[in-house]
Amino acid sequence: MKYASQKVAYWFFAAAILLLSLQIVYGLIMGFAHMGYDGLHSVIPFNTARAVHTNLLVVWILLGFMGSAYYIIPEEAQQELVNVKLAYIQLISFLLVGVAAIVGYHLNYWEGRKFLEIPRPLDWLVVINVLTFLGIILATVYKGKKRTTTSLVLTMGLVFAALLYLPGMIWFDNQTMDSFFRWWVVHLWVEGVWELIMGGILAFLLIKLTGVDREVIEKWLYVIVGLTFLSGILGTGHHYYYIGVGKIWLIVGGIFSMLEPLAFLAMALFAVGMYRKGEKKHPNKLALYWTLGTAILSFVGAGLLGMAHTLPQVNMYTHGTLVTAMHGHLAFWGAYGMIVFSFITFAMPNLTGRRLYDTTYGQLAYWLSNIGMLGMTVAFGVAGVAQVYLERKFGMEFGAVQQEIEVHFLVLVITATMFATGITFYIIEFFRFGKPTNEAIGFEETMKKSN
Ligand code: HEM
Ligand code: HEM
Ligand SMILES: [Fe+2]
Repeated sequence: MKYASQKVAYWFFAAAILLLSLQIVYGLIMGFAHMGYDGLHSVIPFNTARAVHTNLLVVWILLGFMGSAYYIIPEEAQQELVNVKLAYIQLISFLLVGVAAIVGYHLNYWEGRKFLEIPRPLDWLVVINVLTFLGIILATVYKGKKRTTTSLVLTMGLVFAALLYLPGMIWFDNQTMDSFFRWWVVHLWVEGVWELIMGGILAFLLIKLTGVDREVIEKWLYVIVGLTFLSGILGTGHHYYYIGVGKIWLIVGGIFSMLEPLAFLAMALFAVGMYRKGEKKHPNKLALYWTLGTAILSFVGAGLLGMAHTLPQVNMYTHGTLVTAMHGHLAFWGAYGMIVFSFITFAMPNLTGRRLYDTTYGQLAYWLSNIGMLGMTVAFGVAGVAQVYLERKFGMEFGAVQQEIEVHFLVLVITATMFATGITFYIIEFFRFGKPTNEAIGFEETMKKSN
């Protein structure tokens, strides 16, 4: 850490991990419900658990992005954050809105639009909050001594992400129109602007961890940004196949979404290439593991498993089944969960000045969580394919199929427990680092010299 204001990132990371833990609890409730053990049904019915699970996911990932930005921007711009107190207020108010939304879901105060369940009045509070966040980031970049490509790509991703929240707030009384614009938020976030945020964070990590020249790394960023926009914008069409819009989307969505994995492939090649080129001297080996793991698993989860159901001929059968959950888990975890974990792993020693590199707990966290998530993906995939054939090909009734596939959820719960154990080790390690301190300023430079 070079600037005292970077310490605020720690609290965003702590909040993110806390919400992930809660997300896992709701995931397990649903995992057991799928197995036929739905004892909590009268208090937390499946639809509530699902909305809470996915919304907590989005909130903790956003907290992770915000924390990373509060760490990266001062360092790249060579300027303290312009208003640290406001950043803390922004964190607390963001959490309060999140808690209000989640309590609301339990009381049936919500909109039944997957991922955008949050009621419109609360949306406005989110808007104010995100504007505050962007205000701090943009003012810091503006005042800073330097404007690097990395910081600009990251900032651009954050600004676009905020803008793309708005189409989800328009009110329609037509289901097709509502779906059409809902995807502007959901799809254009994860397969568009969030990729820029991820690219920016990845570039920063690779510059720090591999020691390869900034110029080389930042050249790749342009390639990634180009591929993302080229494929991702029109790729939205893969959600328009059968929602009541024109047939042209079958062709446009099919072709462009098949190109989307290229952006993830570019990121994977980029990270592995820079690792091989680099001097491999940085002591934070675990951060490097997480970074390379992100690049590879995001390609598998988003790129390959996305491609598996993106053609209209396939999606006609798989739409909204557990095949989607298979892809949703590894894509969200492999890309955005893992990039946040990579960043926290990189930042913790620098924020606290403690050299907990490459520890047993850290290793266990890495392997258990990632192997656990791969196992979960397989379990969802097996259940999903069975569901598609029984329900959509052979015409069995939805509920009867769900009973038929209950058995696959045993493996889901076992692998999810493995995932949760990995996360528990990560949390223990997080606490072992202790709190961030001003003494840690300059720690990274000292470490570099002593190596
Ligand atoms: C990190 C990037 C990605 C993430 C986090 C992600 C996540 C998700 C999630 C959560 C859904 C369910 C959305 C909903 O029903 O509301 C979904 C759907 C879908 N994704 Fe992705 N995805 C990513 C990238 C991709 C890519 C690159 C492709 C194509 C190559 C793809 C293809 C699809 C398709 C076709 C669906 C629709 C499934 C259905 O009809 O039920 N995704 N994705
Ligand atoms: C203990 C760990 C977890 C368990 C047991 C679990 C279980 C589940 C279950 C049962 C569903 C509902 C599937 C359905 O609709 O029938 C679900 C949905 C979902 N979960 Fe998890 N989950 C866990 C962790 C995670 C993590 C860590 C992430 C992301 C980083 C995640 C992302 C999602 C997403 C995106 C959906 C919506 C999928 C879709 O749109 O079809 N989950 N989860
Ligand atoms: Fe999409």
